Amino acid sequence: MPKSNQLRGGPTPIVSPRGELSDLIRASYPTNKLVDLVLPARLQKELEAIVKESRSVARLEESGLRPRRHLLLAGPPGTGKTLSASAIAGELKYPLFTVLLHGLISKFMGETAQKLRLVFDSIVNHRGVYLFDEIDALAGTRTNSNDVGEARRVLNSFLQFLDEKGGGSIVVATTNLPQILDHAILRRFDVVLKYELPDETAIKATFSRRLIGFDIGSVEWKIVTQRALGLSTSDVVIAAEDAARAVVLHGGRGIETGDLLLAIDSRHLLQEIGVDFGAKKPKSLSRSRNRKKSAVSRKVRERKVTKRRN
Ligand SMILES: Nc1ncnc2c1ncn2[C@@H]1O[C@H](COP(=O)(O)OP(=O)(O)OP(=O)(O)O)[C@@H](O)[C@H]1O
Ligand SMILES: [Mg+2]
Repeated sequence: MPKSNQLRGGPTPIVSPRGELSDLIRASYPTNKLVDLVLPARLQKELEAIVKESRSVARLEESGLRPRRHLLLAGPPGTGKTLSASAIAGELKYPLFTVLLHGLISKFMGETAQKLRLVFDSIVNHRGVYLFDEIDALAGTRTNSNDVGEARRVLNSFLQFLDEKGGGSIVVATTNLPQILDHAILRRFDVVLKYELPDETAIKATFSRRLIGFDIGSVEWKIVTQRALGLSTSDVVIAAEDAARAVVLHGGRGIETGDLLLAIDSRHLLQEIGVDFGAKKPKSLSRSRNRKKSAVSRKVRERKVTKRRN
């Protein structure tokens, strides 16, 4: 990447990683914003504060303070962690540099600390949001024991590098394995945000946003949102799209409760197939309680619907 004076502020010029770095970092220029995310108010506020702090560096520095720039986002798959990193970059008009962790480990066995050094030099010299996505890949899930050692070394070096000055860049790490969140890791970050599966309000908001332009006036939201409990936000988006596609192909614009229920059920089914095939399913961060509750309320609902029909 060319040297630049980005750290002095102003718009960040378009840069793309060159040479060895091009195997380690992928650059993109997101345009999405924090309002694109459906998140609990506390998370939304935290993310807004982080963006505001990076916009107000001079004011903070006058008082001997610095913006929080090391973030760990933890939570189940499909809840918006990667999208949040992208939205922070979009808000600040910074490039998003996604660090390719798998490449780092498998391609450069034994040289990983050196490669990580390159990445951290870039963090200091080229302002951006640096996304270390799914750092649990470094926490030792490999089968080959050498790999485990190497992955752990990368994780340790990563944590050590985090203690160094990072210029104006923001480092975002994500994980969906809560068990890697021990104190040694947590204390390295300025902010740790816990993402969760969407509640009924978030589910409705997600459906409504994705179905803008469709007539959703007759949707019975209580039934739909209860049935969708246990799905990730990503699943809800996909269910909305599935339902919309089916309706469009039938020549309509009106979405009915049944269209959404059908799409929701097929997402649940896929989740279950995934579990049968041994897909990783986060335990402590998942909402299994709600899933059970949802199964019970589904039965009650179905009884009500049958009654109504008769
Ligand atoms: N909170 C959210 N608000 C709006 N859309 C979301 C949210 N979470 C997920 N989505 C939708 O799902 C897609 C995937 O989300 P994302 O990649 O951010 O999930 P993730 O938490 O990073 O998952 P993983 O742990 O599997 O990497 C997004 O591109 C978006 O369409
Ligand atoms: Mg992700």
